[in-house]
Amino acid sequence: TWTMVNIVEDQVARIRAQIGSKRAICGLSGGVDSAVAAALVQRAIGDRLTCVFVDHGLLRQGEAEQVEKDFVAATGASLKVVDAQERFLTALAGVTDPETKRKIIGREFIRVFEQAAREIVAEAGEGDEAVEFLVQGTLYPDVVESGGGNGTANIKSHHNVGGLPDDLQFTLVEPLRELFKDEVRRVGEELGLPAEMVWRHPFPGPGLAIRIVGEVTAERLEILRAADAIVREELTRAGLDRAIWQCPVVLLADVRSVGVQGDGRTYGHPIVLRPVTSEDAMTADWARVPYDVLATISNRITNEVPDINRVTLDITSKPPGTIEWE
Ligand code: XMP
Repeated sequence: TWTMVNIVEDQVARIRAQIGSKRAICGLSGGVDSAVAAALVQRAIGDRLTCVFVDHGLLRQGEAEQVEKDFVAATGASLKVVDAQERFLTALAGVTDPETKRKIIGREFIRVFEQAAREIVAEAGEGDEAVEFLVQGTLYPDVVESGGGNGTANIKSHHNVGGLPDDLQFTLVEPLRELFKDEVRRVGEELGLPAEMVWRHPFPGPGLAIRIVGEVTAERLEILRAADAIVREELTRAGLDRAIWQCPVVLLADVRSVGVQGDGRTYGHPIVLRPVTSEDAMTADWARVPYDVLATISNRITNEVPDINRVTLDITSKPPGTIEWE
C-alpha cells in the first residue's frame, strides 16, 4: 500500500533529483502547507535549504514561536526570521477598508520576502552553491483549480508568495502538488512536525488584520490575540477541533456598548465568535457549539480580556456571509 512513509521517501528522492547540488529557499507562513513542504525539502537537501519567516505581527498567540522554535527544533532547518511588525503596522495605520488592508499586506509581504531572498542569494554566491529553487506548498486542489485562488478570489483578494521580480528568478519546487490536505497533514506528522502546526485550522494570509473591523493597531491586536487564544483553548478542551472547520474571532473595534463589570459601568468593544463547519470553505454553516462551551468562552473573555464587555455569536451561513468578516 501507498503509505505516508512511501510518499515521504518518494518525494525526498524526487526533490534531490530536481535540486541536485544547488540551494533552495522557502517562505514559511505559519501554516500547514508551507511547513510540510519545507520539512520535506529539508529532509532531502538539509542545510542547503534556507527558510524565511516574515513576522508581520498579525499571527495569533504562539504562532510565531511555533515557527521560530518548534518547527526549527523538529526539522533542524536553517531559518531567517525577518521582524517586520513595525513596518506592517506603519503601512496599515489609518486604513479601515478591507481590500485596502489586503493589498497593503500582500505588497509589503512581497517586498520584505524579496529583500530576504536577495540577501540569501547574495550570501550563497554562484555556481554549484547558487540558490535556484523556490519551494512552495501548492496542493493538488490548487493545481486543479488552475489559475490559483480558491474561487473566492474575485470576492476577496487572497495573497500568497508570488509575483517576485524578473531579476529574481527561481524554479519552483512543489512537493505537495499531488496531495490533498489530509495527506499533507499525515506527511507532516510523519516528518515529526508539532501537532498544533499540523492540525491548525485554516488561517488567512492577512492574519488578524482582517479580523479587526476598523483600523489595525498594536493595542487592538493584543486584545484580539488574547480573546482568540481563549477561544482556541476552550474549543480544544471541549474536543471540538476536528468537528469545526475554523472559528474566526473578530474584534468590532469601532463599536462600543455599555456594560457593568466589577465596580461600575464599562464602555467596551464586542467580540464576535464565528465558528463554522465546512468541507472546502466555498460554503459553510455556523457550527452548533454547545451552549456550555459558549458560556465558558464568554465568561473567560469578559473576565480576562480588558476592553471586551460583550461576546456575540455569528449565526450566518455562507452564503450569504463569508467566513471572515473582511
Ligand atoms: P471567506 O472569508 O472568503 O474565506 O469565506 C474562505 C476561506 O479562505 C480563508 N481566507 C484566506 N486565506 N489568504 C488566505 O490564505 C487570504 O487572504 C484569505 N482570506 C480568507 C478563510 O480563512 C477561509 O478559510
